Amino acid sequence: MVQSYHPQTLNEIIIQNQSAFPYAKGELSQLLSHIAVAAKIVNKKVNKAGLVDITGAADNVNIQGENQQKLDVFANNAFIQSIKATGILGGIASEEDDEIVIFDDDLSLNGKYVLCIDPLDGSSNIDVNVSVGSIFSIYRRISTPGTKVEIGDFLQEGTKQVAAGYIIYGSSTMLVYTTGLGTTSFTLDPSIGEFCLTEKFMESPKDGVVYSINEGNYVKFPQGIKDYIKYCQEVDKDTNRPYSSRYIGSLVADFHRNLMKGGVFIYPKTLSNPSGKLRLLYECNPIAFLAEQAGGLATDGEGNRILEIKPTNIHQRVPFVVGSKNMVLKVEEFMKKYK
Ligand code: AHG
Ligand code: MN
Ligand code: MN
Repeated sequence: MVQSYHPQTLNEIIIQNQSAFPYAKGELSQLLSHIAVAAKIVNKKVNKAGLVDITGAADNVNIQGENQQKLDVFANNAFIQSIKATGILGGIASEEDDEIVIFDDDLSLNGKYVLCIDPLDGSSNIDVNVSVGSIFSIYRRISTPGTKVEIGDFLQEGTKQVAAGYIIYGSSTMLVYTTGLGTTSFTLDPSIGEFCLTEKFMESPKDGVVYSINEGNYVKFPQGIKDYIKYCQEVDKDTNRPYSSRYIGSLVADFHRNLMKGGVFIYPKTLSNPSGKLRLLYECNPIAFLAEQAGGLATDGEGNRILEIKPTNIHQRVPFVVGSKNMVLKVEEFMKKYK
């Protein structure tokens, strides 16, 4: 008998879920499909690293004082161009652009959505063949359609996200997204060029044995985090300690592993960076939405739910604790002792 291969594709699942968003009239679905197309373009380029001249710095520094890599610039352009063409978006806030990018063609002026994006996450890992990613977050605009989008459209709390997700360019390429109906993962099948369903409802294990933090910054950490690290390293059979330390340096890859296996990712405030390093709009909010939709938690380590923080700046940073629910609560417990 001939075996038939019919995976459920991203588009099929998006269309199935469309009925839950009657107001969206299919626009959100189209937007997600275009993000997937841009992701495939970036994926193709990432896979060529080492073969063509796309690794290394781009002779540019972004607003956050970070050296832009050639692939940061390529990925930013790929997402902006693919998505602008839909006319569904009024504009984009990107890690790689100092200001919001406003689309002012007739179609886009009526666009109902705005997008926040980290086009290439973990870009310093690209030159050494380690997993990188892209992270996105979508909001409904609050300004009047027909006019240019405004900064206020982007500075909404994470609870207002209508969709969020990431793409991980790893040993395989996966897309993980949520529209608030659970967290769903897809794997790119390169032979047919489609993202195929992997797990409809991902579940973050309530506990785990992995902690992910850049321990090189140890001396600059708050005492609560230092004590938590010590707790992770103590021997206790009942709680499966000592835990393992795993830190890749690509948020997407570290979070993805912890989401699948159980674990906590911490980027705390430090003496030199009192707001931490990671950016609220296009790193922490989308990852927090995905974590919560899978049953996990995301806080700033000081009792505040990431998704409820009111942003004041598109490149705002925030301390970030995310992952398995009980592990995040444990970090909070340690931090509270020194409040
Ligand atoms: P980006 O490449 O988008 O600037 O993000 C890098 C981020 C994140 O992916 C990672 O978790 C973190 O930086 C690593 O920072 P450290 O090198 O300070 O640990
Ligand atoms: Mn990043
Ligand atoms: Mn980036």
